[in-house]
Amino acid sequence: MQSRLFLVGFMGAGKSTMGPLLAGRLRWDFVDLDEKIEHDQNRTIREIFETEGEPGFRRIETQALTQLEGRKHCVVALGGGAFVEQVNRLVVARLGVSVFLDCRLDVILARCPADGTRPLLQTPALVEQLYESRLPLYRKCDVCINVSDLTPDEASEAILLAVGTTVKRQS
Ligand code: S3P
Repeated sequence: MQSRLFLVGFMGAGKSTMGPLLAGRLRWDFVDLDEKIEHDQNRTIREIFETEGEPGFRRIETQALTQLEGRKHCVVALGGGAFVEQVNRLVVARLGVSVFLDCRLDVILARCPADGTRPLLQTPALVEQLYESRLPLYRKCDVCINVSDLTPDEASEAILLAVGTTVKRQS
């Protein structure tokens, strides 16, 4: 029986929207890894990228993920790059079940403003390159759900059906 469910997927795939819905249905906690990082570091993701670059951010991200060992019964929205790192995939596999929210690029681009809050969202061509390069890694998740044309409620229903008896609702 798993006690943590990790939502994986590109920026804008709906991890932070579906996470609380799933957590509510399971009566588990919801953890947004990026929010945890910003809270623990007392600075924004953008500031971390500006001062320490992406490698510095990735080190902090791995630390934050590893700290989830201390928490059970939680749905975790990972940042879009977290599952790309092998070290993080191993931590996720050890701690729980991973679910890839597979979302078409056109849907993602329509959702994500290039307002600087996500430092890796640059030109559409670069975003597409990053998206394509990550897909094979995202597909290593335990469960893959195409959420492009689903409402958040429909998607969370599909996720719960797919993970089935590997997770248990808290009474
Ligand atoms: C990143 C995604 C962001 C955040 C950071 C890097 C990525 O999270 O972790 O900007 O590498 O794709 P969201 O996927 O929640 O936007």
